[in-house]
Amino acid sequence: MAETASAAGAADGRRGFFVRLFWALAGAIGALVGVPVVGAFLSPALRPREKAQWVAVGPVASFGPEPRLGHHVHPSQEGWVNVTAEMQVWVVERPGGRFVIFDNHCTHLGCPYHWDAAARRFICPCHNGQFDINGTVVGGPPPRPLDYYETKTEGGVLYMGAFHRGGT
Ligand code: FES
Repeated sequence: MAETASAAGAADGRRGFFVRLFWALAGAIGALVGVPVVGAFLSPALRPREKAQWVAVGPVASFGPEPRLGHHVHPSQEGWVNVTAEMQVWVVERPGGRFVIFDNHCTHLGCPYHWDAAARRFICPCHNGQFDINGTVVGGPPPRPLDYYETKTEGGVLYMGAFHRGGT
């Protein structure tokens, strides 16, 4: 009788060992397969966004003190996707050869706006938001001045760089 109980105990011990071994191997295989797959899936989203690049807007000579539209193709990476978008910006030359480049979207709800030379204002058609030539709000619902970009000139070409929220 004691031998039977001992044999049953040994069988339970072996069974327990194999059950633990099975789960240990299953966990190891799951980690070997799962960690790289999850890492590959998440890494683009977790990667810090690239710093803004300098993008050519046009020859310096094509802009002046009167606001002019500048066009540029803006490359960026959104998660897994490389995106290029054609964008418009408003360019104003300041005294001393400095430039201001305004983002072409109203700071209220993002509509594109236009320069009204007679009124000397940027006017947004959506809710009649109005900005002066410095981007300051002078009418309507926009909550802050126009957004703008860093600028530099090099070799007679105007470049736009990092984006800044209006009022900062
Ligand atoms: S989106 Fe420009 S005023 Fe509302």
